[in-house]
Amino acid sequence: MSPVRILGTGSSAPERILTNFDFEKIVDTSDEWIRTRTGIVERRIADPDIATSDMAYEASLRALEAASVNSIDVDGVILGTVTPDYFFPSTACLLQSRLGAKKAFAFDLSAGCSGFVYGLQLGKAMIESGEARIILVVGAETMTRIMDFKDRATCVLFGDGAGAALIGKSDMSGILSLCLGANGDDWELLHMPAGGSRIPPSEETVRNRLHYIKMKGNDIFKEAVKAMESASIEAIRKADITTEEIDLFIPHQANLRIMEAVRKRLDIPPKKVFINVDRYGNTSSASVPIALDEAVRSGRVERGDLILFSVFGAGFTWASGIIRW
Ligand code: ACO
Repeated sequence: MSPVRILGTGSSAPERILTNFDFEKIVDTSDEWIRTRTGIVERRIADPDIATSDMAYEASLRALEAASVNSIDVDGVILGTVTPDYFFPSTACLLQSRLGAKKAFAFDLSAGCSGFVYGLQLGKAMIESGEARIILVVGAETMTRIMDFKDRATCVLFGDGAGAALIGKSDMSGILSLCLGANGDDWELLHMPAGGSRIPPSEETVRNRLHYIKMKGNDIFKEAVKAMESASIEAIRKADITTEEIDLFIPHQANLRIMEAVRKRLDIPPKKVFINVDRYGNTSSASVPIALDEAVRSGRVERGDLILFSVFGAGFTWASGIIRW
C-alpha cells in the first residue's frame, strides 16, 4: 500500500458578513443568546449569484497552488455537500470542468457535515490501492440557501464556505487513521423534508417552508458529543499514538459548547484546539477543511505535527482522523 498524505489545502468564503446583530433585525434573537449558546459571532453569506461550485473552485485553485499540482494531473474530484448547485449533474463535475481537470473522475458525496472526511477516506483508499495518484477532496456549502430565516433556532447557526485538500502518494504516511460511522435511525433530527422523491417540490411544500433545514438541536448536541468522542478515541488508537502527542485538535466548527465538551472528555488542553466557529458559524462539510487550511496558513501547524480532527452531521454521520502534517 502506498502511503498517502495531504499535498496542499485551500479555502474560500464569501466576503459578505452577517453578524449576530444583523440577525437581531431578522428574528427574535440577541447577540448575547447566540454567543453564549453557540460561540458564533458572525458568518459569511453568499451573494445571490454565488453557488457552491464557485466557492469550491476558489478553494480548489488555492489547494492546487499550495500543492504545486497542475489540474490536468488530478485523477479524481470528490466533493462533499448537502447544498449542490443542482440535484444533477454533480457539483464535482461542474468543478472538474472549470478546473480543466480533464483526466479526473468526479462525483458528489452526501454525508452531511462529514462529507469532506468521508471523501478523504475514499480518496485515500483509491490511492492506496493504486487506482489513482492524486485526488482533490472538497467540502463546499451554501447553507444560507437552505436556512429558514424565520426559524431562529436554526438560521443563526450556519454559514457559507468551501475547503479543499489535494491528497496523493507520498514517501511517508500523512493520513495515519480515519474512523467513520453512521446511524440512520435518527435521520429526522436533522433533515430537509421536501425536494426529493419522498416529498417532491410543489407550491404546497414551498408554502409550508419544507425546503429548509429542520433540526432538533438539543438531541443532536448529545449525540454529537458522544460520537465525536468515541470516534476520536478510535482514531488515536488506530494511529498508534497517545492523546498527549496531539499538537492540534480540529473539531467540527458547529458549536463552541460541543467542541468544549469533546475536548474535556478527550482531556486535550484548550490551547491545542483550533476554533473559527466565531467567524464562520457551521459551514457543514466545509467546516473541517476551512479550519485545516486556516491552521496551516496561519502557522498553527508545522511539519511533523499530529492533528486530530472530528466531525458530526446529518445522517447521522461522524468521522475522526489523525494526520501527520
Ligand atoms: N435566539 C433566542 N432564543 C432562541 C434561539 C435564538 N436564536 N433559538 C432558540 N431559542 C430559544 C428556544 O426557543 C428555547 O426557548 P424556550 O425555552 O422558551 O422554549 C430556548 O432558546 C432554549 O432552546 P434550546 O434548543 O434548548 O437551546 P440549546 O441550549 O440546546 O441551544 C442549539 C440550541 C444552539 C441549537 C444547540 O442545541 C446546538 O448547537 N445543537 C447542535 C446542533 C447543530 O450544531 N446542528 C448542526 C448540524 S449537526 C452538527 O453540525 C453538530
